[in-house]
Formats: sequence, C-alpha cells, structure tokens
Amino acid sequence: MSSNGLNSLHYYSEHIAEMCRRYDDALERSGRTALVVGAGRPHGIFLDDQHLPYKANPYLLQWGPLSEHPGSALLIQHGKTPRLLVHAPVDYWHRIPPVPELLMHSGLEIVSLSSQNEITKSLAEAIRGSSATTAFIGETLSPDDSFGIEAVNPPELLELLNEYRTIKTPWEIANLKAASTIGVQGHLAAEQCFRGGGSEYEIHLAFRAACNATDDEMPYPAIVALNDHASTLHYQRLDRDREANLSLLIDAGHSVNGYAADITRSHSDDAEFGSLIEAMHELQRGLCDAALPNVDYRELHHAAHLAITALLIEIGVIHATLEAAHEAGLSRSFFPHGLGHFLGLNVHDVGALYTRRQPGEKVRPDEDKHLRLTRTLAPGNVLTIEPGIYFIDSLLADLKQKPSSAMVNWQRVEQLRPYGGIRIEDNLHITTDGNENLTRTAFASFA
Ligand code: GLY
Ligand code: MN
Ligand code: MN
Repeated sequence: MSSNGLNSLHYYSEHIAEMCRRYDDALERSGRTALVVGAGRPHGIFLDDQHLPYKANPYLLQWGPLSEHPGSALLIQHGKTPRLLVHAPVDYWHRIPPVPELLMHSGLEIVSLSSQNEITKSLAEAIRGSSATTAFIGETLSPDDSFGIEAVNPPELLELLNEYRTIKTPWEIANLKAASTIGVQGHLAAEQCFRGGGSEYEIHLAFRAACNATDDEMPYPAIVALNDHASTLHYQRLDRDREANLSLLIDAGHSVNGYAADITRSHSDDAEFGSLIEAMHELQRGLCDAALPNVDYRELHHAAHLAITALLIEIGVIHATLEAAHEAGLSRSFFPHGLGHFLGLNVHDVGALYTRRQPGEKVRPDEDKHLRLTRTLAPGNVLTIEPGIYFIDSLLADLKQKPSSAMVNWQRVEQLRPYGGIRIEDNLHITTDGNENLTRTAFASFA
C-alpha cells in the first residue's frame, strides 16, 4: 500500500479505468494507435559520474507511484490493457526498489526487464506494423530515450492529455488531500520553531522533520524567509544565523504519490504586522470563496489586485482613492506575481493556459505576464489562491520614478520594509457547486 496508508484501492481501480478511457480517446482524436510514456532518467552532472535527483515523468506517475524506476516505459495501445515495462537492472551499486505494491492492483500488465535494450526490443515487437502511428511522451536526454519512436511529444496529443490532467479523479483528489494534511503538519512545526526564535535553516528542518521528508522528496525547494528576506519571491537561501524574528514567510509543501501540496503562511509576533497578516487572511478567504465553477480565473486575479489596492489604502501605504490607485496600477508594484496556478503532479500543473481562445484573444493578459492560470474553472480542477503584498527594493525604486509615486506614503513603506512581505496560499478543489479548501480543512483538523 502507498506510504501514507491511503486505503482506497477502489478509487485507484476507478482511476486506472478512467485513465484507459482518456488515453483511448486521446489516441483516437489524434489519429494514433499507440503511445509510449517514458519514465525518464536522472540528469548527469557535467564531467562527473553523479546525477541530479531523479524526477519521474508526471505522465507516467499519473498511472501509479513509479517514482524510483528510471528507464521504465508504459505502452498504451488503443483498446488494449496497457503494459508496464519496468526497468529493473542488476546493479550492486544502487538499491533497485521493487515495483510499488499499489501497481499490482492496477490491472496493468507488468513486465520487469533488466536493460534498456530489452525494453526497446519488447516495445518494437509490440508496435510492429504500427510504429508510424505510435507516439512517445517524455524527456529525451539522448535520441535512444524514445526507444526508437520518431514522434516525440507531438503537441496535439500532449494538449489532449494536458486537458484531461486539469480534471482530477477522486484518486488524485485523495492524494492531494493527504499531501495537504502532511504539509500542514510541517507548517505547524515550522511556526512553532519560528516563535521559538529558530533560524531559517532550523525552521526548514522542523518542517521536514514533521513531514518525515528528505529535501528531494519535497515537491519544490521550500521558501523559508525571515524578515526582509520575504521580499524575494522565491527566496532560496537558508540562513543559519539566528536573528530577531520579526516575520516569517514559509512556502513549503509535501507530496503523496507524486501529488503536491503548495502552501504558504506568514507569521509575526508583532501586533501591528500580525494584524496585517490577519487582514491578508481575510482578503485571501474572500478570493477563495469566489473560486467557483464557471468563474474566469483572470477575473479572480483582477479582483485580487482591487482588494490588495484597497488594503494598501487601509494600512496607509497608498493615499489615493481606490479608483485612482487602481487606474495607476499601483498594486503591481506590491503584488507582482499571479494569483495562482493549477496544482497536481506538477506544482505548476499543465493545461492552465487555455490555447484555444477566440481569434485575437491572448493566452494571458499583457499586463499579467506572470499569471499562470487563465482558464474558466471547472469541477475537478485543483488550484492555488496565493495573494501577497511585498516590499521589494527594485520594484519600489522603479515606482519612485513614476508620477504615481506621489500616491505612496513612503514613510509607511519604510516602516514595513523590514518585514519583507506576506503571502497566504491555499489549495482548492473546485467541485460541482463550490470548492473544497484542502489547506484550511487540514489546518482545522489539527486545531
Ligand atoms: N511554491 C511556488 C508557488 O507558490 O507557486
Ligand atoms: Mn503556488
Ligand atoms: Mn507556494
């Protein structure tokens, strides 16, 4: 059974049946008879015999938690039982893990082979006569990696598979929930460490220990930013020094069977900054409430800018009317990223930028070049809502040069700069009549 004890074999069998339906449909619609999903292999380090940590191809992971079997391949032929060719070399340098037990319940045909050559041969035999209509999905670090298949990642097929990946099955939702639950345990431990005066490094360790995860098992490198470090959006250093802890921004998650949680919380013991964090929570909860089926995410992003502008006025950073400040685009200097993104096997999951817009309509608005989700929400989508306010030196310097600088209370900005910034990020599952907040549900379960 999977490591988190998800005892939902029924969900998993249903998931595999749905995957077969989806792949059959995608093959048919793209005019193909078969496709091979490659697991990929670890990237080597230049002039070294070491490798970077292996990250399995998410298109393979969607069939089951094959996170430790580089070189494997899954053959899907229209209307047939998919065949998993597991790369199981004889290797006395490394541990070769067994096939995860869950896959034994998948109904897939599973064959273990000890070399890449054998896998290539077996695939060639299976697709003999139909190689021209077979596609390969995966990364090719060298030409051999596509097992001799010429059509590598054909865009029309990828688009169909990506479209399906935007709708999570109940099995996928169960994994995402489990990831949130464990991720939240990490956040609770991290907060405690912060309140005890821990350094960024110590807070990071507290998070990982509570999740029982190594760095490589985390879905993305944790952002643990004390004080003004929070103004670097993807701050990646972990300072060992203990300093006066004014504020913490921690953006860290966990993953279960490859499905990620992506959670951010801000904390401060300072009463005034603490109340600003509380105001951001309220703002963020309002945006979560508005994330409903049939809502255009671009409008939510727009609503976030309006709400953030109003908050900046309320806390005295901007002195202007809401209309004037919004018209001048002031919030873009304090909230320079997108409101969120799809979440799944990729932290920034696929299919989020709708490419089939009306003629002339752009994939994303010009003024929002960092917006990662521009679609109309549908049941089964899982996404993040992550508004923020930051005091970023380079953006503030740019703003000072603009006429709209006159609308900013720079003294107030100086007061807030040492705190860096705030981000509150939850993971939402869009349902037929609303949404489920996976993050807040998990926090509530530990309250
Ligand atoms: N952790 C990266 C993000 O929030 O998108
Ligand atoms: Mn995110
Ligand atoms: Mn995040």
